[in-house]
Amino acid sequence: MQDLVLGIDVGATGMKGGLVDVENGEMVSERFKILTPRPATPAKMAAVIAEIVNHFNYTGIVGCGFPSIIKNNVAYSAANIDQSWIGTNVTETFSGITNCEMVVCNDADVAGMAEMRFGRGKNEKGLVMIITIGTGLGSALFIDGKLIPNTELGHLKFKDSIAEKYCAGSTRKKLDLSYEEWGARFNEYLIHIEHLFSPDLIILGGGTSKKFDLFSDRITIKALVEPAMMRNNAGIIGAAVLAKKQNKEALM
Ligand code: BGC
Repeated sequence: MQDLVLGIDVGATGMKGGLVDVENGEMVSERFKILTPRPATPAKMAAVIAEIVNHFNYTGIVGCGFPSIIKNNVAYSAANIDQSWIGTNVTETFSGITNCEMVVCNDADVAGMAEMRFGRGKNEKGLVMIITIGTGLGSALFIDGKLIPNTELGHLKFKDSIAEKYCAGSTRKKLDLSYEEWGARFNEYLIHIEHLFSPDLIILGGGTSKKFDLFSDRITIKALVEPAMMRNNAGIIGAAVLAKKQNKEALM
């Protein structure tokens, strides 16, 4: 029998859910997306989570990637969502409204877990970095397959600002840059990342990774840079797989 878990990828722009076969990491339903409400407060976002859960008529454990530092279920940052999230227990906020058990982790970390387990990072040793490019820039760092959580490399100080303001996907749209122009900016960031971390492989996820072919020739660093195999579904898949794993561990 298929083991299906609902994964939800909470982004600053869209909140997306899908049913995932957690044994093979495949999404088996259509992706259901609702625009992130503004202001993106706990109450408004929790209502959207409930809508997604209801859409799938789902009652089991839910995995959720969330765009913030998450420690012990609590949000410690709120770069592109409402500031009132800081100090809020995300797991309780979402399980309170859905009556579903919730497992919540940083969105880039869960997308990274999916790529490492089923995608481009499978069996990769050394330092592997996943960078998600969307409204913000997310990062997940793995050493020999083990995650170092909440790295927030999109918030490195860069060019008198921070990296995600300089080269997130939303910056490309805001400044109306072509993919080539944006790719040149992103490459400057990658040069900085390579100088600091010397990664062996960088996997690009998030919405912009779908356009990899349009900017790949701007990338000049030594490390291998490749698009995520799961493209923009890695967040949903990783969240579901994490929920299943935590549930299993809790039962043992
Ligand atoms: C947040 C990260 C998140 C990334 C991608 C950043 O602004 O600080 O926690 O992973 O956006 O959503």
